Amino acid sequence: MIVGKPFLTVDVINSKVRELAERISRDYEGKELVAVGILKGAFMFFSDLVRSIRIPLTIDFIIASSYLKDETSGEVKVHYDVGEDIEDKDVLLIDDIVDTGVTLNYLRERILMKCPRSLRICSFLDKTARREVEIPIDYVGFRIPNEFVVGYGLDYDNKFRNLPYISSFKKTA
Ligand code: IMP
Ligand code: MG
Repeated sequence: MIVGKPFLTVDVINSKVRELAERISRDYEGKELVAVGILKGAFMFFSDLVRSIRIPLTIDFIIASSYLKDETSGEVKVHYDVGEDIEDKDVLLIDDIVDTGVTLNYLRERILMKCPRSLRICSFLDKTARREVEIPIDYVGFRIPNEFVVGYGLDYDNKFRNLPYISSFKKTA
């Protein structure tokens, strides 16, 4: 397994997170924002982002997985669902990466059944080339090419999530 050079450095990540937090703070001024992080992948981005948001908010999480090492299985499992009452609240779903779109599309529909006042999606990375399900992403950090990446919460086989930067990743024989 080879982890390459940083593809997005700590500085580049930090300034993008601040930029997204500014936009979110402006857009949600006066609203009842519930920031919902999708674990495990979004844990680092989520904690950086909410620390930079300047308006009151509540936080919650969904723990979901789409089993397999580096391929999306298409079957989404929810291990923990939002505990907060989100009816009539302004929900922002926060994820690490949108790839095929299957996971977020499933979670989005699940949240919509709880009747939030509004629902938007924020993803740090967007791999548009692999999209199978059209899904509106309201806040995107970076659109990236079709390469597998690790770090800043993103894993391969549950490893490398702790890297503070994002790196491309290649498997060796
Ligand atoms: P989906 O294909 O949009 O459903 O993506 C589901 C999940 O696959 C993401 O939330 C990530 O956890 C994982 N994933 C997709 N691409 C990558 C990658 O390049 N590195 C690490 N995880 C990824
Ligand atoms: Mg994820």
